[in-house]
Amino acid sequence: MCGIVGYVGRAQERSAAGGNGAHDALDVVIEGLRRLEYRGYDSAGVAVVADGAVETRKKAGKLGNLVAELEQRPLPESLTGIGHTRWATHGGPTDANAHPHLADNGRLAVIHNGIIENYAELKQELRAKGVTFASETDTEVAAALIGDMYRGAAGGDITKAMQLAAQRLDGAFTLLAVHADQPGVVVAARRNSPLVVGLGDGENFLGSDVSGFIDHTRRAVELGQDQIVTITPDSFVITDFYGRPAQGKEFEVSWDAASAEKGGFPSFMEKEIHDQPAAVHDTLLGRSDAQGRLILDELRIDPAELKQVNKIIVLACGTAAYAGLVAKYAIENWCRIPTEVELAHEFRYRDPIVDKNTLVVSISQSGETMDTLMAVRYAREQGAKTVSICNTNGSTIPRESDAVLYTHAGPEIAVASTKAFLAQITAAYLLGLYLAQLRGNIFSGQIKDVLADLGKIPEKIQQVLDNAEPLRELARSMKDEKSVLFLGRNVGYPVALEGALKLKEIAYLHAEGFAAGELKHGPIALIDEGQPVFVVVPSPRGRDSLHSKVVSNIQEVRARGARTLVIAEEGDEAVREYAEYVFYVPETPPLLMPLLTTVPLQIFAAELAQAKGFDVDQPRNLAKSVTVE
Ligand code: M6R
Repeated sequence: MCGIVGYVGRAQERSAAGGNGAHDALDVVIEGLRRLEYRGYDSAGVAVVADGAVETRKKAGKLGNLVAELEQRPLPESLTGIGHTRWATHGGPTDANAHPHLADNGRLAVIHNGIIENYAELKQELRAKGVTFASETDTEVAAALIGDMYRGAAGGDITKAMQLAAQRLDGAFTLLAVHADQPGVVVAARRNSPLVVGLGDGENFLGSDVSGFIDHTRRAVELGQDQIVTITPDSFVITDFYGRPAQGKEFEVSWDAASAEKGGFPSFMEKEIHDQPAAVHDTLLGRSDAQGRLILDELRIDPAELKQVNKIIVLACGTAAYAGLVAKYAIENWCRIPTEVELAHEFRYRDPIVDKNTLVVSISQSGETMDTLMAVRYAREQGAKTVSICNTNGSTIPRESDAVLYTHAGPEIAVASTKAFLAQITAAYLLGLYLAQLRGNIFSGQIKDVLADLGKIPEKIQQVLDNAEPLRELARSMKDEKSVLFLGRNVGYPVALEGALKLKEIAYLHAEGFAAGELKHGPIALIDEGQPVFVVVPSPRGRDSLHSKVVSNIQEVRARGARTLVIAEEGDEAVREYAEYVFYVPETPPLLMPLLTTVPLQIFAAELAQAKGFDVDQPRNLAKSVTVE
């Protein structure tokens, strides 16, 4: 989820004081990157076209490092520029992997947001033609491909080169390119990744969102899927990947600059809740082939060793640990390997039984949580194989693990984790399916079916998001509650725990999650007249459904005066008579349900906290990354 800016201005107006189109490209691009930096802090870079050449500067780390570099080594004045702030996926956060990437003997510069799934085969093809690569990124492959097209079939036309290259690329991408031979032109392509054109007077802009240019114009055009746009100071021309004329959607930006960074949402947390279809989609991207076989190239542990694994221990804290609990159900079901989930801070102080046949899977959004890091170090010392599921490329935990499976949720800014949770569950499912494939635990057809079901999840999350208004009303009406309980069974149990944690974290409200079957062993004593209880109800479909058991649990609490708020599967009419309120999520296989049932609980917590007037992005007493033990 990188940030992207592009700019072209008109020369003759630059001298007119205060005139339109009178900006230096670098100033516009750096300003845009400042606003877009929330999209990735791993590195930043710029390219300008000046005096018949392309010049670039790029630096690992925050934008400040690039700005310092530009002070040391200034760039010439220019009217054409592009800039990038990176959130790393392929290749760690280094200077070499920072964008822009160059091709055509340094005359073409390219920046990219997204993941190019077929980069490995394209790289091979280009290498065979004599192209060499200076980075580990998929972006450099795209740059080389555009360069190859530019010199070949496109006959020196950058727009045509982009069209031809885009036809060859699989995955999700926004690509921007400039060429030394064509000053005053920036060309961009878009598939499954955002891109907006900003319309100025004698100047035009590109941004991964409107905050990239909001200081200059509020007139914008959103590009559709699989479109190419070429901007000059006075024009923007949209086509499809085959050069056929196409149209974008023009709109007027009504947000102020601060809400533009949040995509128009009142908080980063709300934005991140709405990023979840993309987070799941991107985490699945490039991890299976057309035959439905899992391809986890990053998992560099000898398959023979993975086949020997006889125990899995999942280590994590907080929300990440709840993702681990969901993973346990799936991994044990698919792989038949005993799987324990342990809070990382408890693990190493209890003399755990770990050996070379133990696979330790750590889960961490930040990759810097000290408790998790120390537990992973301890497990390695004991001879375990360690895999990190992590959202932050190049962070300490993946660096210190034997292998890593990155989630592709994009940077999570709000302290309360939302999209990282869904991406962690998705990645853990992929790991479970991969182990099952390797060990032959389930048929390849079944793996293909689960992958197909996972592929439908983003659209279903979107449906949940689109239908949430009644839930928001409910949350607002409950802002003065003192306590909310959450019940779930099986994979619904960690969902209940996560629902309660969200409410504690951001609404400062007493909330507890329970395994519904545990109720009668104690917690039912808490139920009093009017006590709100959320119940995550499993699907009534399927042989082993726990549906009737959970309905009995609902009746138990209702009989004692509870107000039951139910999350159920579409079509489950039976729960209606036991619930004060029902929120339906689309049908999906039971093991995948947490990817849907968690979302209403996140929305509920965010809405209730906002109704109480709290800052949901920075709740009191909490830090995004807990780097102390
Ligand atoms: O960065 P990590 O995933 O390792 O962080 C783990 C927990 O600190 C984190 O999930 C925490 O519980 C969140 N604030 C939950 O919203």
